[in-house]
Amino acid sequence: MVPIRERRHTGQIHRHFDLRAETYGATSTWTHQERLARIIELLTIERDTPSFVDVGAGIGTMRRPLLNRFPGARYVGVDLSLRMLQNADQGTSAYAQADAHALPLLSHSFDCVLARQVMHYLERPVDAILEFRRVLRPDGSVLIIQGTPLPGDDASWWKSVMQVAQPVRQHRWTADGLRSVLRKGGFQTDIETTETVRLKLHDWLSYQGLDPRSVRLARSLHEKAPGSVKAGRKFKELGDGDIEFDAFFTMLLARPCR
Ligand SMILES: C[S@@+](CC[C@H](N)C(=O)[O-])C[C@H]1O[C@@H](n2cnc3c(N)ncnc32)[C@H](O)[C@@H]1O
Repeated sequence: MVPIRERRHTGQIHRHFDLRAETYGATSTWTHQERLARIIELLTIERDTPSFVDVGAGIGTMRRPLLNRFPGARYVGVDLSLRMLQNADQGTSAYAQADAHALPLLSHSFDCVLARQVMHYLERPVDAILEFRRVLRPDGSVLIIQGTPLPGDDASWWKSVMQVAQPVRQHRWTADGLRSVLRKGGFQTDIETTETVRLKLHDWLSYQGLDPRSVRLARSLHEKAPGSVKAGRKFKELGDGDIEFDAFFTMLLARPCR
């Protein structure tokens, strides 16, 4: 762990993840190694020992699959929450407590910036994307992995669920929105793909670290979801009060425009 002074406080998010740090890795859906390996396959990097900065690294879930695919690579994880970083798989990697909007890293020093499930927490996403661009080598790339609504989802249902389940969230991204913010930050998207992940409601709600009232509310929003949502997300009642359904992720690989 490299102790780096936190430059700016986005206290609410910081506190939220400090509280979730101990249990964050307990839901295997988020740490599933084969799933993470499939994400890493999107990367093509020519350099023998590439360097990665994982912005909003949390407990460093991307580190191991990256090092499996690129042995000898340099991995740096940056996060606002020191507690999340303290729960990270340390290895020989470096971690720094810092804000995505002001990375304590040299310009043009990384081959790839990763941001998995982070964009929805950023106060000023375009500024953060410009910061990603600053630390990237000119031939580098950024990989964004972000939960987005399913095509045809009911927008007001999605908004209500997100307000309850992820109260510190700042944005509800769509694939179009992500592409547009990348463009504003000087990137051109080369690859856009999606991933559908089967989730159990109980797991998903416990992963969010919610209080019991919010859990009840989120569960009732799922139980009373519009028929179109239940069909689109392939809801399946599991009999013990739990529900299985599809969640949807958009993955964008982009490189700096010349
Ligand atoms: C949902 S977790 C994702 C963690 C990890 N990327 C993963 O895929 O498991 C979001 C992480 O982003 C971090 N985060 C949110 N806003 C941030 C910011 N402005 N700068 C740095 N980290 C931030 C949070 O502290 C949290 O650890």
